[in-house]
Amino acid sequence: MTIEYENLFKVNQPYFDKYRQKFEEVLQSGWFILGNNVKKFESDFAVYNDLNFCSGVASGLDALTISLLALELEKGSEIIVPSNTYIASILSVILAWHKPILVEPDINTYNINPALIEESITKKTRAILVVHLYGKPCDMDPITSICKKHNLFFVEDCAQAHGAQYKGRKVGSFGDLSGFSFYPTKNLGCLGDGGAIVTNNSLFHQKTVMLRNYGSSKKYHNELIGLNSRLDELQAAFLTVKLESLDLINKHKRELASIYLSNLKEDFIKPVAHEDFYDVFHIFNIRHKKRDGLKEFLKKNNIQTEMHYPVPPHKQNALSFLSHLRLPVSEEIHNTTLSLPIFAIHTGDDIYRVIDTMNKF
Ligand SMILES: Cc1ncc(COP(=O)(O)O)c(C=O)c1O
Repeated sequence: MTIEYENLFKVNQPYFDKYRQKFEEVLQSGWFILGNNVKKFESDFAVYNDLNFCSGVASGLDALTISLLALELEKGSEIIVPSNTYIASILSVILAWHKPILVEPDINTYNINPALIEESITKKTRAILVVHLYGKPCDMDPITSICKKHNLFFVEDCAQAHGAQYKGRKVGSFGDLSGFSFYPTKNLGCLGDGGAIVTNNSLFHQKTVMLRNYGSSKKYHNELIGLNSRLDELQAAFLTVKLESLDLINKHKRELASIYLSNLKEDFIKPVAHEDFYDVFHIFNIRHKKRDGLKEFLKKNNIQTEMHYPVPPHKQNALSFLSHLRLPVSEEIHNTTLSLPIFAIHTGDDIYRVIDTMNKF
């Protein structure tokens, strides 16, 4: 039997009955965009994150782009972003008309290295956008201090970190604005694309609500140059159902992660664990010099794996203007990282089978 990396049919199966009921309700209501289901999810998700406001949008990329647009910075502002991330974090800066300034990660956590941020700050720097990669919170204390000291806005990319906590506080609650993705594979995933922006700032919230809807707060009156990026009623209804299980999903993933952490042999570089960082393991990665050989070996033994990510953003053709950057830590991570099965569909037995096979490599 193959151990799949992920299976989106099986992962959603426990919710099918409730989803069918929600589908029927939305169908009968005749209201498909920005209605009561979106309001309900926004309210539930704001409460879940211990924040006052949430606006549903069409994707995680839009959540970040709109968050940056809501800051109303002058075009061409410099925004600090991690070099080790999914390309969306960097694209959001470009789509909001700003300049991404890439900062290398800490080789132990894979998240932005706080010690390297200040040397990248210039007179044009206006914000820091951090990414809680793989579900592990960034080291927030030094980063929030840097933001305060240099009077910078703070945006969090929480696309992989729903429910993660830093020193007992949810990620997403540190930034001026924070963006989430509900892409189907995420710990909180919907049945299509979706995203959300959370904040405690009512002015920024009003801006995000306008920006997602053609820059309008009154029908056919447009105040800002906005987007069409609305979360639809069906996705919001499905998300409301799944949100109830998010803490259980995260707990399950953490249990599977702890099996990996205790039993994988030391040849593999494992994620660091620390009580201040409540990691929700959207992705469980290890690093190994012979990563490609290991992936092939696991495939032959019917175990599927993924790479997050095989090519770093600054080496992507789309971002060729960044290709001159020397980012050895990011490149080392991209060359050696392998993501192992760790989803709601997996049992402890599945994880032990992965471990037994890996320990023979
Ligand atoms: C770190 C990160 N940021 C942003 C995004 C963008 O989210 P979406 O695909 O919903 O636009 C993703 C999606 O995979 C992501 O992993």
